[in-house]
Amino acid sequence: MDIKINFSGRSVRYTEEEIAVVVEAMRNADPLTQGKYMREFESRFARYQQVPEGTCFTTMNGCAALEMSAQLCRFAPGDEFVIPAHTFTASAYPYLKKGARPVWADVDLRTRVVTAETVEKALTPKTKAVVVVHLYGYVADMPQIAALCRERGLVLIEDAAQAIGAEIDGKKAGSFGDMAIFSFHSHKNLTTLGEGGMLYVRDPALAAVVPGLRHNGHCAYTFERPDYWKPAMGNVDVPVLGQDMLMPSNYCLGEVECALGAKLLERIDAINDEKRERALRFMDGLADCPELEFHRVASRRHNYHLLAARMTTGQDMRDRFLRAMSEEKGIKCVVQYLPLNRYDFYKRLGCGQARCPNGDAFFDCMVSFPFQHWLTEEDTAYMLAATRDVLRGL
Ligand SMILES: Cc1ncc(COP(=O)(O)O)c(C=O)c1O
Repeated sequence: MDIKINFSGRSVRYTEEEIAVVVEAMRNADPLTQGKYMREFESRFARYQQVPEGTCFTTMNGCAALEMSAQLCRFAPGDEFVIPAHTFTASAYPYLKKGARPVWADVDLRTRVVTAETVEKALTPKTKAVVVVHLYGYVADMPQIAALCRERGLVLIEDAAQAIGAEIDGKKAGSFGDMAIFSFHSHKNLTTLGEGGMLYVRDPALAAVVPGLRHNGHCAYTFERPDYWKPAMGNVDVPVLGQDMLMPSNYCLGEVECALGAKLLERIDAINDEKRERALRFMDGLADCPELEFHRVASRRHNYHLLAARMTTGQDMRDRFLRAMSEEKGIKCVVQYLPLNRYDFYKRLGCGQARCPNGDAFFDCMVSFPFQHWLTEEDTAYMLAATRDVLRGL
């Protein structure tokens, strides 16, 4: 059967106004990177997050933001970081690249994110940092986890790649930790033409090194130059933190993407609210189908970046469900986030061991429905009816 509803590669369709902003930046931006649109996006993002100006930095994607956050942790040999195994690989490997070892924390079976309890279980005397992932768009219990990290003197990083706009009592995902990262990848509720990211750094001393770290170590000379071209247009140095010299990269996001990102901030709450409202209707339409267990959250704590469920009747039934949905109904559901310890890459690095029964149990029976923002009402109604129909026939 032809695909009727695909698991789309893009989350949103742009409005004419948003396209006009892109065209305007294409015509007029000078320079095309590192200019006024970047400053505007970072400033508006900080306001949106209700964090101080000068703490948010655009990056070419979420992974680049994670790479810099890993550098800013300044791991020593033997350091560990705690992270859920049930996440996307880019949440973890930047910290491994900086020499830290992951200790996998389990997730809660219902919410699919870590809790203060599961984080605490994974702590050892070697733990330096905790990476909390707000997977699927749901904010983990950050007040409790932040209190735990404060008490133990640990660096707390939020991977809010999927959670822009989600909040707990008005406080945004990505504003609880010492650092946070966001992704504006093609699948995300806010996407800057396919790639983009943001790094938040709370400590002003750490934040001060980010621009140089992000942009080849470019910085100003510390002396007054006799001529603006001498000794060169700008200086190059490494950002220094205490005794540590940090090696720079080029992780900048272009001006056109920044112009669009700033514009999309006007619409992100509406996008999230519309997705949540649709998710709730879909879940409520299946309330009498206990085979599929959803995570129903009626507040802004969930932005429903993704709509995931667990097949409570086991993996065999899950597989039959996916097959029937695709072959009989033309709806492409997918399975996401193989626990990282089960990938060859992590096994090869000696990180294949985990005690995460909930993450395993969830992944092994999970179904992720197509949930791009631009699904039509008809698509959603068709997907609901098809789901009910397939479940009845299993
Ligand atoms: C949870 C999570 N962390 C990190 C990333 C990395 O973001 P990016 O693709 O923008 O590098 C993604 C998504 O793509 C993600 O879903």
